[in-house]
Amino acid sequence: MMSSGSSQIWRRRSGISWIRAGLIIFILVFIWLQLNFLSFSGSSPQYSDINDSNAAILSMVPAVLHKFLSSKPKNATHTRTNGSYNNLLYTSTPNISDIKRSIAQYNLQQVVHNENNFEPLQNDSIVIVVQIHDRIPYLRHLIVSLAQAPGISQTLLVFSHDYYDEEMNSLVQSIDFCKVIQIFYPYSIQTHPNEFPGEDPGDCPRDMKKEQALIKKCNNALYPDVYGHYREAKFTQTKHHWWWKANRVFNQLEVTRNHTGLIVLLEEDHYVGEDFIHMLRLMERTYKESCRHCNVLSLGTYLKTYNYYADSKKVEISPWVSSKHNMGMAFNRSTWTQIVDCAAYFCKYDDYNWDWSLQHVSQNCLRQKLHAMVARAPRVFHIGECGVHHKKNNCKSTSVISKVQQVLKSAKRHLYPDYLILTYSTVLKKTKLRKGNGGWGDRRDHKLCIGMTLG
Ligand SMILES: *[C@@H]1O[C@H](CO)[C@@H](O)[C@H](O)[C@H]1NC(C)=O
Ligand SMILES: *[C@@H]1O[C@H](CO)[C@@H](O)[C@H](O)[C@H]1NC(C)=O
Ligand SMILES: *[C@@H]1O[C@H](CO)[C@@H](O)[C@H](O)[C@H]1NC(C)=O
Ligand SMILES: *[C@@H]1O[C@H](CO)[C@@H](O)[C@H](O)[C@H]1NC(C)=O
Ligand SMILES: *[C@@H]1O[C@H](CO)[C@@H](O)[C@H](O)[C@H]1NC(C)=O
Ligand SMILES: *[C@@H]1O[C@H](CO)[C@@H](O)[C@H](O)[C@H]1NC(C)=O
Ligand SMILES: *[C@@H]1O[C@H](CO)[C@@H](O)[C@H](O)[C@H]1NC(C)=O
Repeated sequence: MMSSGSSQIWRRRSGISWIRAGLIIFILVFIWLQLNFLSFSGSSPQYSDINDSNAAILSMVPAVLHKFLSSKPKNATHTRTNGSYNNLLYTSTPNISDIKRSIAQYNLQQVVHNENNFEPLQNDSIVIVVQIHDRIPYLRHLIVSLAQAPGISQTLLVFSHDYYDEEMNSLVQSIDFCKVIQIFYPYSIQTHPNEFPGEDPGDCPRDMKKEQALIKKCNNALYPDVYGHYREAKFTQTKHHWWWKANRVFNQLEVTRNHTGLIVLLEEDHYVGEDFIHMLRLMERTYKESCRHCNVLSLGTYLKTYNYYADSKKVEISPWVSSKHNMGMAFNRSTWTQIVDCAAYFCKYDDYNWDWSLQHVSQNCLRQKLHAMVARAPRVFHIGECGVHHKKNNCKSTSVISKVQQVLKSAKRHLYPDYLILTYSTVLKKTKLRKGNGGWGDRRDHKLCIGMTLG
């Protein structure tokens, strides 16, 4: 009795000391990791020391790609400085009917640039679709990042514009590292300045009360959004454009309409890590083998700190959540076919965000909800807004770009993983949407969106 009791005490003590030793080792390892691998994380004090001058940013870009970062000297410059209208200035700022004509021509001709310099699109090639508006400085950096990705030469880059601009066109057409095609959203605000989908002078002002609007008989008096506000044209364009380009790429564009491989969706202010194509391939293989219910890949998550040492191999399997998994999304035709069958859910949901609308589709219409495989260490970054460490007024676009460059540089030896480690995320709280974010109550928007649906 005694001996067995004392031996139990001894065992317990020994157990406690083991735990203690384990704890100490754990803490030491943790500190060591902090010192060695997290030093470039966003919360570290070093972040504020990052040199984000243009010269510093340029020094991180290979010299052969500098051409994408500088605007070409314009021959028409001397005419521009003089305010009077003459022929050269006239051609550099075309009027709306000229723009409409150019857009129609681009969309009809469907010229694939560099088609003869690279092999034709295979059925398993990656197609990268970039939705762009007018922020050229960001687009320049996205192009530079794409240029540095091994495998880019086998892809097709589709630029989907909703703003016609000659400088943008010549930048896109100067891309020489893969096949490129441009498509133009035909219902832009730029080409419809005084009529729907732009702002019609007869439309109800955003904040007008419905009773007043009914008396005034403004165009959309009957259809304020779920929060009682009337349509604001500039906030509706992105969702329309998103829906249009996806429909066009999957069902209309000659070069992609039969494509069965992955389509990756990017935006003008994204920035890709150099191994993003490698990751996509690896994730594509892995989800076909190990996650039969996955139907979306996501290359980006929004993080404040990064740990490529620990996470570069890790992918998380998770229900698709609009606010977390909307960056660098990739899926193929089979997923798109299911989404487009739910067009009414996308087009009539009172939310002007395409991603929240897609979540609505997933939760309320899809037979098989969207389920994502997500890279834990992002391969797509959002450079279009200032980081959390900046107040709006002292925020420079270069600071985020510079930070991303530093993050990727420090991560370099952890990129290109040979295999992936799957982790599973259980969604703690139900991310069920009650009502949308509004901005999409106008029946004309519903109709336009439905009208652009192909399939
Ligand atoms: C930032 O980097 C550039 C180029 O590398 C250099 O010329 C400049 O002096 C640096 N500025 C600071 C504040 O370190
Ligand atoms: C500028 O115009 C001249 C003649 O008008 C032409 O020879 C030259 O190549 C042009 N330069 C550029 C950069 O377009
Ligand atoms: C623009 O050019 C016209 C002649 O073509 C001249 O009369 C005018 O002063 C110039 N304006 C400016 C701002 O240089
Ligand atoms: C636009 O240019 C065309 C010629 O290309 C011209 O006929 C038309 O009147 C112009 N429209 C406006 C609004 O300036
Ligand atoms: C892709 O093409 C290859 C060879 O051309 C063919 O064997 C394969 O079945 C095709 N895959 C699909 C999904 O069409
Ligand atoms: C796509 O498929 C359609 C019908 O199957 C066919 O008529 C068309 O030629 C194909 N297009 C391409 C580019 O392969
Ligand atoms: C398309 O994606 C689904 C998952 O959504 C996958 O099961 C299927 O194999 C993929 N098709 C092709 C041709 O890769």
